[in-house]
Amino acid sequence: MSAEIAPRVRFTARVSSGFLVIVFLGVGLRPMKNHTSKSAPKARPPQQEAHAPHHGDAHREGGHEHPVHHSAEEWAERLDTKERDAWQKPAQLVGMLHIAPGQTVADVGAGTGYFLKYLSRAVGAGGRVLARDVEDDLVQYMRRRAEEEGLTNVAVGRCALDDPALPRGGVDRILIVNTWHHLSSRVAYGRKLAEALAAGGALYVVDFDKTSSVGPPPEAKLEQRQVVEELDRAGFETGLVKEDLPEQYVIRASLP
Ligand SMILES: C[S@@+](CC[C@H](N)C(=O)[O-])C[C@H]1O[C@@H](n2cnc3c(N)ncnc32)[C@H](O)[C@@H]1O
Repeated sequence: MSAEIAPRVRFTARVSSGFLVIVFLGVGLRPMKNHTSKSAPKARPPQQEAHAPHHGDAHREGGHEHPVHHSAEEWAERLDTKERDAWQKPAQLVGMLHIAPGQTVADVGAGTGYFLKYLSRAVGAGGRVLARDVEDDLVQYMRRRAEEEGLTNVAVGRCALDDPALPRGGVDRILIVNTWHHLSSRVAYGRKLAEALAAGGALYVVDFDKTSSVGPPPEAKLEQRQVVEELDRAGFETGLVKEDLPEQYVIRASLP
């Protein structure tokens, strides 16, 4: 366990005082920029907070279902907001990954590409960012976004529900934010992520505390000890990253 890691038994009880944040995210505040194709329909205001609405089996296994499909633009209205920036602290979070210039970094379940500019900057011109998502709509959205933002070191690709589609042994850092709780067969998925890690690489899983005032409903949230246990079973050594995120935990997982 490195110096950046706190004992894994640190479970934070966070006061659920931010109900207003849910309301903010739920009423459809305008995104800073929507990377919308000309033919895309106008987004309806999202009805929930920053939480993936459906993925069939993945959500059934998680004990909850969300039958509604949301467009990339609806996602952007809930994921790419200044209100989220305040608790997500994206630059600070990417700093926790200790990415070196020239490295290859994957963002799995990358959504609208919220983290791409930070990851792109961290790996620099000689590095690569692999953005993966299961939704075609989001993949197209991220491609447009990467192009418009001039992120030439970002490669966007679609992955399967049960496979992150990453090169074997080819990734130095894997970031999974607000997505682990969507996965089905998480231990098997973790083993696939382990296969993608290069020597010395690390996976970072960032997700919501049960008591977070943002994110999915409590029944869909995962206790960090459960995620740690799943990653252990997938063959990782895990530890909690000391962080200053008000709503989330950050788990670092590396190979023994
Ligand atoms: C709440 S969003 C988070 C998006 C992004 N990580 C962020 O923090 O802005 C969850 C994302 O996970 C994706 N997702 C769900 N299941 C997935 C799977 N099995 N593999 C890859 N992506 C998945 C969804 O399509 C969605 O874009």
